[in-house]
Amino acid sequence: MTKGNDPVNATGPNTQLARAGYDPFDYHGFINPPKVHASTVLFPDAQTMDVHGQKYTYATRGTPTTDALCDAINELEGAAGTILVPSGLAAVTTALLAYLSPGDHALIVDSVYGNVRQFCDTMLSRFGVDVQYYDPSIGRDIEILFKANTKLVHTEAPGSNTFEMQDIPATVEVAHRRGAVVTMDNTWATPLFFKPLDAGVDVSIQASTKYPAGHADVLMGTISANASHWRALKRANGALGFCGTPDDAYQVLRGLRTMGVRLERHQASSLVVAKWLEGRGDVVRVLHPALESFPGHQIWRRDFKGAGGVFSFVLASGRGEDFKLKAQRFLDALSLFGLGYSWGGYQSLALHVDLSDRRIAPAPTEGPVIRLQIGLEDVEDLIADLEHAFAAASTV
Ligand SMILES: Cc1ncc(COP(=O)(O)O)c(C=O)c1O
Repeated sequence: MTKGNDPVNATGPNTQLARAGYDPFDYHGFINPPKVHASTVLFPDAQTMDVHGQKYTYATRGTPTTDALCDAINELEGAAGTILVPSGLAAVTTALLAYLSPGDHALIVDSVYGNVRQFCDTMLSRFGVDVQYYDPSIGRDIEILFKANTKLVHTEAPGSNTFEMQDIPATVEVAHRRGAVVTMDNTWATPLFFKPLDAGVDVSIQASTKYPAGHADVLMGTISANASHWRALKRANGALGFCGTPDDAYQVLRGLRTMGVRLERHQASSLVVAKWLEGRGDVVRVLHPALESFPGHQIWRRDFKGAGGVFSFVLASGRGEDFKLKAQRFLDALSLFGLGYSWGGYQSLALHVDLSDRRIAPAPTEGPVIRLQIGLEDVEDLIADLEHAFAAASTV
């Protein structure tokens, strides 16, 4: 901020969120950046054009609006550079394409976001990459899976839908010793609760669709790299031509400003609901890393500063009971929780998790797994809604 005063040494996460990425005095003092809609950028003369001698050259390579968001993410992640892509899924696939070549071996966590598995099993395999899934709890023993051509380890902690934690520092240590790149989908924690690059991860991925955007109305992904991996990422994305639109970048930057206070609320309410579920006889287990009963809790406690607001639980079921029917009864009785994909918005959501594609990490078998995204509503109302759903499910 350049309004003449010496800056206060402000490093708190919410202060950072309120200021990161854009100086209002770069644009007449307006607090938010201008929304620049563009493809073509004009050059003043042919010589400048020949040498690309100005900051902006064509809008696929950035605009003042997308730069404001990228600069903010760089500050939060501690990254050398960030690129924007049109979805969280595209952020993971672009990162994998940036660092893998035909003949390479890639280790992908078995609790990975399902559509990434789809990408790995189809396109990545078709392009000649040998994909191998590993147990999220493998820790340092991941070294056993390394081959001479292992070039990348993709991590996601906690894992999708079942929330297994991973020992990221141990994975990084092994991977770097064996010359492999480490990528991490850190969407659940956001850089407020875990900073992958500080933990040694090379490339940090965020589905900004979730907490950064925060209102279930934007799709976007960010990929942030450390200094040694930034050039390759930038080059790959330049070749692929993915970019974020100014409207989406503006919305995500706007969302970031309030992400800290929203996350505090998501975290607090999700813990209240998780503990309430844990005390019920009709719940087998609650899959939430911040609960002491959860197997990966110690890793979460050691490495993370907080918890996101999405987690799952296993609904108790009798022998031979129809899990799908039971889950449907439960979900159909909810009125405040919407039935829908994604998470990170202000509204609570629920769904029956499909774990049929798991290969290595065991999926719960005692009953249907229900995932909850705890929104910003009053937690007492959410619990009353769930109470109603348990009553309905008990009639199956
Ligand atoms: C952990 C995780 N990563 C990535 C994605 C993909 O994000 P998007 O919906 O923006 O493609 C999701 C979506 O649910 C997710 O849960």
